[in-house]
Amino acid sequence: MEFTKKIDEVRKFVRQWKKEGLSVGFVPTMGYLHDGHKSLIEKAVKDNDKVVVSIFVNPMQFGENEDFNDYPRDIEHDKKICFDAKADLIFNPDASEMYGDNFYTFVDMNIITKGLCGKSRPIHFRGVCTVVSKLFNIVNPDKAYFGQKDAQQLAVIKKMTEDLNMNIDIIGCPIIREDDGLAKSSRNVYLNNEDRKAATVLNKSLNIGKISINGGEKSVEKVKKIIENEILKEKNTKIDYVEIVKWPNLEPIDVIEKPILAAIAVYIGKTRLIDNFILE
Ligand code: PAF
Repeated sequence: MEFTKKIDEVRKFVRQWKKEGLSVGFVPTMGYLHDGHKSLIEKAVKDNDKVVVSIFVNPMQFGENEDFNDYPRDIEHDKKICFDAKADLIFNPDASEMYGDNFYTFVDMNIITKGLCGKSRPIHFRGVCTVVSKLFNIVNPDKAYFGQKDAQQLAVIKKMTEDLNMNIDIIGCPIIREDDGLAKSSRNVYLNNEDRKAATVLNKSLNIGKISINGGEKSVEKVKKIIENEILKEKNTKIDYVEIVKWPNLEPIDVIEKPILAAIAVYIGKTRLIDNFILE
């Protein structure tokens, strides 16, 4: 497995692979890798001849009062996960390599970035679209892999590649969970013991919502209330949002007709966690 911090080096590797007729899969990450990321890398390894993993905590997608400085980082641990999953190249640039001194260009998206996470994180998706566009231009992959845990991000990236005619297949991969149902996330490390137990309420409340939909409930308002009530049974929680929207265009709906995305963001203490399910 190769490791580089330099854009030119990534390009050199990929140019050589493409010359040899090899396909290239790409897994963009912010590091502190867990089994969710590992499953993306393993899927990419299965589908492609070569796999690049980027590890870059992108300052542009964090708001002023968000956790950029505290975001967990452990590059040695990340290298091991990538190695075990059989990645071929890690790209771990510094911010100066990605943005230089004068950076004036942004990739932004309307409509589907305004609800859900975009409501409480107004600059987030501009940062995500900009950095992912840059990474796509650097790595030039055939396929790129994103987890469904960030369902809105997955929808946004798919739309961006469509709108900007990027010739890259975007592959969505299932949420990987702990044994008690908590979705794997780098931010789970922020949870103390008590919060960790409380955090299972995200998945629990979504499951209860799913049961009511599968039982025939069609009212978005009613299912949202069921999910909210379940979350609020757990003390130390604060709801950022509970939403049910059309999948994958994230349009607001009143009546449940598949495909739909049910997505939630909840503060457990100070830690904001997200989770969702999609009914196709
Ligand atoms: O999902 C993430 O980890 C990040 O948003 C991504 C896609 C790597 C862009 O920084």
